[in-house]
Amino acid sequence: MRRPIIAGNWKMNNTIAAGTALIKALTPLVKDVKDVDIVACPTATALQAVRAAAEGTNIHIGAQNVHWAANGAYTGEISTEMLTEIGVEYVVLGHSERRDYFGETDEGVNKRAKAAFAAGLTPIICCGESLEIREKGTYLAFVAGQIKAALNGFTAQQVAKLVAAYEPIWAIGTGKTATFEQAEEVCAHIRKTVAEMFNQTAADEIRIQYGGSVKPATIRGLMEKPNVDGALVGGAALKAADFSEIVKF
Ligand code: PGA
Repeated sequence: MRRPIIAGNWKMNNTIAAGTALIKALTPLVKDVKDVDIVACPTATALQAVRAAAEGTNIHIGAQNVHWAANGAYTGEISTEMLTEIGVEYVVLGHSERRDYFGETDEGVNKRAKAAFAAGLTPIICCGESLEIREKGTYLAFVAGQIKAALNGFTAQQVAKLVAAYEPIWAIGTGKTATFEQAEEVCAHIRKTVAEMFNQTAADEIRIQYGGSVKPATIRGLMEKPNVDGALVGGAALKAADFSEIVKF
C-alpha cells in the first residue's frame, strides 16, 4: 500500500511571520494524523523559519525549486545543500508556473530531479497539460512525454521513491477541479508509463498526486481513486482549516 502524501504549495505567499503563524495554526489540527505524509512548501526566504516552527511536529518541509549544480555562478538559484542544511526534505520541480513564466524545460526538470535525489531530497515532479492539449485529445501522450523526460536516467529503485504530481494547467487556481475520473485516467497513465519505462515495482511504489483546485469537498473523491495517492494543494493550503481538512480526508 502506498502511503498518502498531501503537500501544500504556498507559491509566492506567506512571509516568515505569516508562514510560521500558519504552521502554528495547523499543528494542533493535524497532530493526530499518522498515516499521511504532510508537507508544507514555503518560499525560500521562509524555509528555515517555517522548518523551525514545524520542528517536532508531523509536518515536513519542501522547497519550491532547486538548482542542479552543487554551487557556483547561478544568480538567483538555490543548491540542494542549502536546502538539506536547514532540514528541507522535499522539493517541487517542474511546476507549470515555473515552466510557463520562467522557461523551465523538461531537461532542466530532469537535471534538478537528479541533483535533488542525489542529495537525499524527495522530488515532487509536476506534469500536466494545457487546456489546448486537453481539447485536442493528446493529453495522455503529452503527460507521458513529460514524465519520460523527467525520469530519464533514473533507476527503477530510485523512481520507486519519487513523487509525481499530475496538475492539469486548466485546473490550477481556476476553481475548476478535474473530475475524479479525469484525475484517475491520467494518474493511471503515469503509472503505466513508469511500468513500461522501468518495471512494475517502480510503478506500484511511485506516489502520484493530483493537483489543481483541490478543496476539502473534493479530496475524498480523489483519494478514493486507486491511482491517486495524494494531492498538491495551492490556494487551499494557505488556510489552516482547509488544509487540515484535506489532510484528514
Ligand atoms: P491550486 O494550485 O490548488 O491553487 O489550484 C495547485 C498547484 O498549483 O500546485
